[in-house]
Amino acid sequence: MRILGISGSLRHDSHNTQLLRAAAEALPGGVGLELWDGLKAVPPYDQDDDVQPAPAAVAALREAIAGADAVLFATPEYNSSIPGVLKNALDWVSRPLATNALRNKPVAVVGASTGAFGAVWSQAELRKVLAAIGARVLEGDLAVGHAPSRFDEHGRLIDDDVRDQLREVVEALAAEAAHAPALAAA
Ligand SMILES: Cc1cc2nc3c(=O)[nH]c(=O)nc-3n(C[C@H](O)[C@H](O)[C@H](O)COP(=O)(O)O)c2cc1C
Repeated sequence: MRILGISGSLRHDSHNTQLLRAAAEALPGGVGLELWDGLKAVPPYDQDDDVQPAPAAVAALREAIAGADAVLFATPEYNSSIPGVLKNALDWVSRPLATNALRNKPVAVVGASTGAFGAVWSQAELRKVLAAIGARVLEGDLAVGHAPSRFDEHGRLIDDDVRDQLREVVEALAAEAAHAPALAAA
């Protein structure tokens, strides 16, 4: 089973990207997690450009999502919402609405912030957007507040509670993806 990890932060030392790297080390057997790193290359959404063939970065993202069994998002919170670059990429993925790559796709959302609340509002916003697009959104969030204290100087997760919660999220996502074909056929 393949999970695609998408971080909403472009920053090299992003805590959200580090969270996805930690998730990749906490996977159940038979599950792989691949990090998608093409966010910065996605152009601003313009409906006039939303034609075939799609811009290369958009086509690559759509294919990466379509080829994954599930998607794990890690999002920062920017001004109480999701980063514009992430929303922009999701706007591209959402089209065409009826057949978009996220439709019926199991997805889960986690998030990290430097403040106390761990990007909870941003995670809620992202779940709302993903549901509107038609993804199968897992309930619940993993709010990693005070992010700089959870990782060492090499960006490795050092908080065992967060690691356990991350493992639970990934296991739930993998379980949902295992059920996906049956649900899709129903
Ligand atoms: C433009 C901007 C807006 C931000 N707004 C919020 C916010 O609303 N809530 C919050 O908890 N943190 C906010 N932050 C702080 C982020 O939580 C912090 O920069 C975090 O490290 C970003 O995630 P990253 O490490 O994955 O890049 C903001 C940061 C930036 C750059």
